[in-house]
Amino acid sequence: MATITTNNVINSLRLLLVLTLLSLIRLAAPRSCTFDPDPTSKWKFCECQPVTADSGQVFCRRQAWITVPPLPQWELLAHNRPTYSIVSLSIVDGGLVFLNQDAFKGQNIQLLDVSHNHIETVNVNAFRGLESKIYQLSLNRNSLSSIPSRSLTYLYQLQYLYLQQNRIAEVQPDTFDETQLKNLQFLYLDHNMIFYLPKRSFFRLPLQVLTLGNNRIFDIDKQALPISLWFLDLKNNALNQIPYLALKDLKQLATLDLEGNNITTLVPEPEVVFETEISLLLGSNRIENLEENAFGSFRKIKALDLSYNRIGKMPDDCFESISHMKVLDLSYNYLANIPKRTFQNVAKSLQRLILEENDFHVLPSGLAHLRVLEHLNLKSNKLNKLDNSTFEHFKPALTELLL
Ligand SMILES: *[C@@H]1O[C@H](CO)[C@@H](O)[C@H](O)[C@H]1NC(C)=O
Ligand SMILES: *[C@@H]1O[C@H](CO)[C@@H](O)[C@H](O)[C@H]1NC(C)=O
Repeated sequence: MATITTNNVINSLRLLLVLTLLSLIRLAAPRSCTFDPDPTSKWKFCECQPVTADSGQVFCRRQAWITVPPLPQWELLAHNRPTYSIVSLSIVDGGLVFLNQDAFKGQNIQLLDVSHNHIETVNVNAFRGLESKIYQLSLNRNSLSSIPSRSLTYLYQLQYLYLQQNRIAEVQPDTFDETQLKNLQFLYLDHNMIFYLPKRSFFRLPLQVLTLGNNRIFDIDKQALPISLWFLDLKNNALNQIPYLALKDLKQLATLDLEGNNITTLVPEPEVVFETEISLLLGSNRIENLEENAFGSFRKIKALDLSYNRIGKMPDDCFESISHMKVLDLSYNYLANIPKRTFQNVAKSLQRLILEENDFHVLPSGLAHLRVLEHLNLKSNKLNKLDNSTFEHFKPALTELLL
């Protein structure tokens, strides 16, 4: 009896699910846009999706327009009530070269995507009228040679700004001096040509996330970065050391991605200490030497990635200042030994250790301390005998051993 009831319930749930899916599919089916009564309207080549009864999203792809065509000025229609309101507008993969003055005036646009065009110029008043509305703006894959900060001055609500894959080479110290971007938390600038971040360049912005991957940055001044950052992506740049002094006041830093830079040696910086738990990504650099107390500025490490470097030796005090480390990746290096004391301080926290593709002939003596190790990867080494007594210590926690 109980099973039958359960089956009935399952069947009605199934029906409900199918109905829901059908209605979603119906809602999601794009229609051509009819919001503009002008019979010659260029917007009719776009697709519209309703969001509410009188608002919707507009998608325009592969249009040859070099600038944004006029949008109907709904405030002029009867009863002063907009007949239709655009909350999200995408003009992508097209021929836009400039964003004209008042291009979006009178609209309710919260999300604006003009990525993958050829935009070189953004009029200072391009976004006029969206000041209290727009929270996400994408200008990815265009031809901007600088950050169009003057056009962004009054976008108080803007939270996400995408400027990836442009030709931005310089960020001036005063770029954001006049802006009132008091909600800008996410800024994406990957794949540009930026080589240097001067003092104050981003300092005034309330950023939490800043991505600058795949630029040519070789230096970052003190006080270039906002102290509110917790995620900083600097991968594939030309830094030759951890930019400690530029990171000094970032008390909330949780992820620092320096993969693919030009770092050859890790030297501690006594002036700078991070108290937060950090993921530090240093893979694919040219690190040969870990100086004594190399990670002296760090206290707690969530993950430390040192893979794809040229590390041949680990001083036994390199993790001396670290009280806690969960994951350590040393794969693709030239290590033949890890001294006994190396992991002493992290023995009760290290859960994953990746030592693949090194030069170990015997189990490194440093492993003996690791009490809570769950995952150990020793693949592609030159081990020829396994010393049973070393394994004895960490056997209790170990769930995965790759040889
Ligand atoms: C990397 O650093 C070396 C000096 O250590 C320099 O000669 C070389 O040009 C740098 N490479 C890049 C890509 O910046
Ligand atoms: C490992 O050593 C223990 C004693 O410490 C022994 O009982 C066990 O058989 C050994 N295992 C192997 C595979 O040699």
